[in-house]
Amino acid sequence: MITRTMPFPDNTFVPLLVLALLIVATHAAKCPQQCVCDQIQLTVTCVNKNLTEVPPTVDEITVKLDLRGNDIQELPTGAFRHTPYLTHLSLQRCNIRRVKEGAFRGLGRLVFLNLANNNIDILYQESFDGLSSLKQLMIDRNRVEEIQPGAFAQLGFLNLLSLTHNQLVYIPNMAFQGLQNIKWLRLSHNSLNYLDIEAFAGLFTLNRLSLDHNELQFFPTETMTRLPEVTRLDLSYNPMTYLGEESVSMAKLSHLFLDHMSLQDLANTAVSKSPSLTHLDLSHNQLRVIQPFSEGTPKLARLHLTGNPVYCNCYMRPLREWAIRSKVKLVGTCAGPLHLSGELLEAIQPPELRCQSQEAMLKAEFEEASRRGPPPTEEPERKVKCPSNCVCEAEIHHSSCENHGHTKVPRGFSPDTRLLDLRGNNFHYIPSNSFPGVSQVVSLHLQRCKIVELEDGAFSGMKGLIYLYLSENLISSLSPEAFKGLPQLTYLHLEKNNFTIFPKGSFKLLPGLLALHLENNSIAKLEANSLNGAEGLRALYLTGNVIDHVSPKALEQATDLDTLHLAGNKLKEVPTEALRKLKNMKDLRLSGNTIRWVGPNAFQPLGISLRELYLDNMGLEKMSHSSLAGLGSGLRSLFLEGNNLEEVPDLHPLTSLEVINLADNPLMCDCPLLPLRLWIEKVNLKVRATCANPPELKGRRVKDVHVFKACPGGEALPSAPSAKTPKATKPKPMHLSRAKQGKMLKSKLPKKPKTKVAKKSKRLSMA
Ligand SMILES: *[C@@H]1O[C@H](CO)[C@@H](O)[C@H](O)[C@H]1NC(C)=O
Ligand SMILES: *[C@@H]1O[C@H](CO)[C@@H](O)[C@H](O)[C@H]1NC(C)=O
Ligand SMILES: *[C@@H]1O[C@H](CO)[C@@H](O)[C@H](O)[C@H]1NC(C)=O
Repeated sequence: MITRTMPFPDNTFVPLLVLALLIVATHAAKCPQQCVCDQIQLTVTCVNKNLTEVPPTVDEITVKLDLRGNDIQELPTGAFRHTPYLTHLSLQRCNIRRVKEGAFRGLGRLVFLNLANNNIDILYQESFDGLSSLKQLMIDRNRVEEIQPGAFAQLGFLNLLSLTHNQLVYIPNMAFQGLQNIKWLRLSHNSLNYLDIEAFAGLFTLNRLSLDHNELQFFPTETMTRLPEVTRLDLSYNPMTYLGEESVSMAKLSHLFLDHMSLQDLANTAVSKSPSLTHLDLSHNQLRVIQPFSEGTPKLARLHLTGNPVYCNCYMRPLREWAIRSKVKLVGTCAGPLHLSGELLEAIQPPELRCQSQEAMLKAEFEEASRRGPPPTEEPERKVKCPSNCVCEAEIHHSSCENHGHTKVPRGFSPDTRLLDLRGNNFHYIPSNSFPGVSQVVSLHLQRCKIVELEDGAFSGMKGLIYLYLSENLISSLSPEAFKGLPQLTYLHLEKNNFTIFPKGSFKLLPGLLALHLENNSIAKLEANSLNGAEGLRALYLTGNVIDHVSPKALEQATDLDTLHLAGNKLKEVPTEALRKLKNMKDLRLSGNTIRWVGPNAFQPLGISLRELYLDNMGLEKMSHSSLAGLGSGLRSLFLEGNNLEEVPDLHPLTSLEVINLADNPLMCDCPLLPLRLWIEKVNLKVRATCANPPELKGRRVKDVHVFKACPGGEALPSAPSAKTPKATKPKPMHLSRAKQGKMLKSKLPKKPKTKVAKKSKRLSMA
């Protein structure tokens, strides 16, 4: 051969070169015009080229094909049959609407497929046929609303399937059948409100499931129980309100995210069937109180409660004790009460979790009792009796027919019902015996039902009823027999009705009544014996009526009364006589009445029992020096803001005061205010009390002005610290200006009763 070619040495070289060039050129021609091809890495990149089809001339040996940002619309069957060696295929932003059956057929080596940001709405049965090596499939940000059975049946090696930001509403049974190696399934940001019981059937290797940002209203217990290997489950941002008994039953689950939902309550056994749980995130829900978890979660180490309105009183003590005992770290802070608000739950010791008021205490006791009460009887069948147009939840014993336009009280609720919610219907009146067969109801809601009348015995038979809500109706009177047959009723809500007269004598049949709410009615008077028959009443709420007269004998019978709210009425004076027999009064509110003057000993009958006194926003012009006489070491809070006081009465007997509010009063910084100035010194408070008058002292802190030192008895006061203080030679004549000025004075007293200064000042002033 060589010899034969030797005769044309000059010419043979040329054709060989041409041939070589030709080969390269042919190869180069295999790179589609708009694309960039790397012959070494074997990649082809055709990004943002408006291609309307998969380029047919891609070299067969290509392993990575990037087609992002084109306009392909539809992937036909066998779209990639010329590139069987592909391992990576990127098809994001290609306006793909439809992936035909067998579109990827022949891609037996493909490992990674990204279809995000297209318009795919249905995943057909054979859409992903042939992808027998695929490990990751991304279909995020499409419009998928339907997954046909068997869509993923050929993807036996898939580890990750991501379907976030689609329009899935429900997942049918067996939807993911065939994913024998799946590890993580991402379904976040869809509209899922229902998962079939077998929705995730066959996913024996799944260990992570993301279902956050969906519309699930209930924890899908049955569905989840079929996922034996799941360790992380994310259900954040679903609108669940309640987590029932043993809802989470997942053997290997270690991390459960239930944050940013609407949880108002959870059963103490909610996670007790998930023995591997270590982290439970309940942050950003509506939980006020959380009970200690029952046994069953020995590994639990962290409980996140951040962003819940956790109310740190005695209800929370069992949880805190349990957390200490079980070494569970509580993450979060208290939302209330005021003195604990913002405190880290971890920093609070159980004895600090207390209930102050009697009512709260009783509520807590009641809840404790019902928690320890007989265990709920086994339900023979899961189906629960429920009238039409109502929703009944067997597990939590709640039945609701809220806002359904019922004109008659529906019948046929399960006898187990504990909470019956009928608010927002149009009953107009409640006939006798309207609630047969529901003797276990504890809480009955009848707000906003346009009720004008309650017939005698309307509620009879409700032996377990404790809370009755009749607020926002049109009731103007009550028959004495209206509440017949409610031996346990404790809290009665009648606010926002049409009462013009106090419904005297209607509570005789309620021996257990502790709290009566009648706010925002139009009651004009409290006549003698108003509380006849309500001897056990502890709390009476009458804020927002038009009461201008309280008979001296009005409250006589209720000697246990500890809370009386009369704010926002038309009283002209403190009803001292009516308070005469109330030796247990703790919380008296008279805010917003038009009481201009409080005389001597106005609160004397309340002696040492009174804890809180509200006398704010009344236009109060004068309080007698001894108006608070008789109130002693019991008083904790005194509210006097928003009045027209130039002076304040003697505060010296109030040795346990923790909160005093004098804001928005035109305080006259002159000798008559000396007792306040001395008192401030004595209690060593950092008080920012400001003067409104005389004009040259306007805006100055009472504590800083020099004027009091010149008053008889004020000599012992320390010199004013500021050089700017004008010298007050003589007390100035009263200069009356009604200019309102002031700041909130609110401070805690130190425990030690007297300071050295106080003793000194006493001695000096006596000298
Ligand atoms: C793709 O089409 C858009 C709209 O028709 C056009 O603005 C853009 O220049 C085109 N891009 C290419 C690479 O042809
Ligand atoms: C109830 O009170 C409202 C407002 O005070 C009044 O308009 C209405 O007529 C009253 N209804 C009845 C039934 O008394
Ligand atoms: C009474 O009415 C006032 C003003 O509308 C409202 O702020 C307050 O919450 C009402 N109180 C009750 C108990 O309904």
